[in-house]
Amino acid sequence: MDKPTYRTMGQQSGRRSWAEPWKIKMVEPIHLTSAEERERALAEAGYNTFLLRSEDVYIDLLTDSGTSAMSDRQWAGIMMGDEAYAGSRNFYHLEEAVQQTYGYKYVVPTHQGRGAEHLISQTLITPGQYVPGNMYFTTTRLHQELAGGTFVDVIIDEAHDPANLHPFKGNVDLDKLEALIVREGADKIAYVSLAGTVNMAGGQPVSMANARALRELCNRYGVSIYLDATRMSENAFFIQQREEGYGSKSIAEILSEFCSYTDGAWMSAKKDNLVNIGGWLAVNDYDVFDRLRNMVVIYEGLHTYGGMAGRDMEALAIGIVEGVQDDHIRSRVGQVLYLGGLLIDWEIPIVRPVGGHGIFLDARAFYPHIPQEQFPAQRLAAELYRDSGVRGMERGIVSAGRDPETGEHRHPALELTRLAIPRRVYTQAHMDVVAEAVKAVYDAREQTRGLKMVYEPAYLRFFQARFERLDG
Ligand SMILES: Cc1ncc(COP(=O)(O)O)c(C=O)c1O
Repeated sequence: MDKPTYRTMGQQSGRRSWAEPWKIKMVEPIHLTSAEERERALAEAGYNTFLLRSEDVYIDLLTDSGTSAMSDRQWAGIMMGDEAYAGSRNFYHLEEAVQQTYGYKYVVPTHQGRGAEHLISQTLITPGQYVPGNMYFTTTRLHQELAGGTFVDVIIDEAHDPANLHPFKGNVDLDKLEALIVREGADKIAYVSLAGTVNMAGGQPVSMANARALRELCNRYGVSIYLDATRMSENAFFIQQREEGYGSKSIAEILSEFCSYTDGAWMSAKKDNLVNIGGWLAVNDYDVFDRLRNMVVIYEGLHTYGGMAGRDMEALAIGIVEGVQDDHIRSRVGQVLYLGGLLIDWEIPIVRPVGGHGIFLDARAFYPHIPQEQFPAQRLAAELYRDSGVRGMERGIVSAGRDPETGEHRHPALELTRLAIPRRVYTQAHMDVVAEAVKAVYDAREQTRGLKMVYEPAYLRFFQARFERLDG
């Protein structure tokens, strides 16, 4: 009998193998439900993966937000919580960690990213102003609109094409931005809303050259730049890998240079900062800080806790430092690239190049026979769960919502199903299971039909909308 040939991943890829820079100290059991149980759970959830119970999920790739595994040092930090109402020592640790890592002067804590978005939008936007940005993000744009602003997409065209291999598909199109400033006048621009990496484009990075040129352009017109720094460390990794002159710089060095081209940032600390809850704002302008610090007490909590417990701020302060370690980022993004590599090898349509925090399946290419109004990416997320208990989320027409003026569906060019990879949670074996699940759903694509929306909430409908299958 022939001897079976087992080859390590490294051998299969013609390199030495590498491994995660951590070992596991505590485990959380998970189990696979039966096909009947999943069918029932999906119908009860109205074919919306946000409405599934997590106990019914096997591998949970709904989001990389708040789903990281904290380190033993962070858990030790939890025990060091100073729960004083005012002046908690944990706040000062957090303030110092943000100042040293991101380089901004003043820090305001918030309970999570959208708390920070609310405050910065209300502070910086005068009704009637425009907010240009490198592709929208759901909660960010909604807060900008609720503050009376109009978001204008100024990302490069390549970002809207899932197959385009541009290395920095998150870049701002400086010509589009300048045309807007010239047409409307600089005083009609609230600020440039820059995100690194760009979630809705598939986790695509912005280059350092683009950030530098953006700063020069904005200086010429007196426009400020605020950064959504939620996944900026992952953005720094792509600069290190792809941009000339940055190969020997550390993630921390790249991150602080990038931030130096901006006037401030808001953060969902639930991502790069490796905590389950938290957020912050950081700015260089004292007057802006003063207004933010005044608003935080109305909506979030005192300016030395902003909606977080003292222990959460301590875990966050430690997470900020751990989150910019080169070996951490290399293995975090490496895991995403590994999963993407398998799917590309099997010719399954995904957004390319593979981004920083997850794989984005191209639902239009999966299901060319399902029109966008029948929610192909929503159906794809449902099918993946039905097949294997793997949970992803829709990032297409449902997430894009309706135009506030016309009330019509917005039709984004990208109709994607996102598989976001939590940090330090799953192993390479989990990635193999996910890859095989995606392949099984891809192989069954021709028999799959669309969905009909039967319940639609007024805001951020993707969280709570309900659907029915068109194929009964
Ligand atoms: C790019 C980006 N900005 C902002 C947010 C909002 O942060 P949060 O979920 O902490 O409110 C998210 C969350 O997914 C995000 O991905």
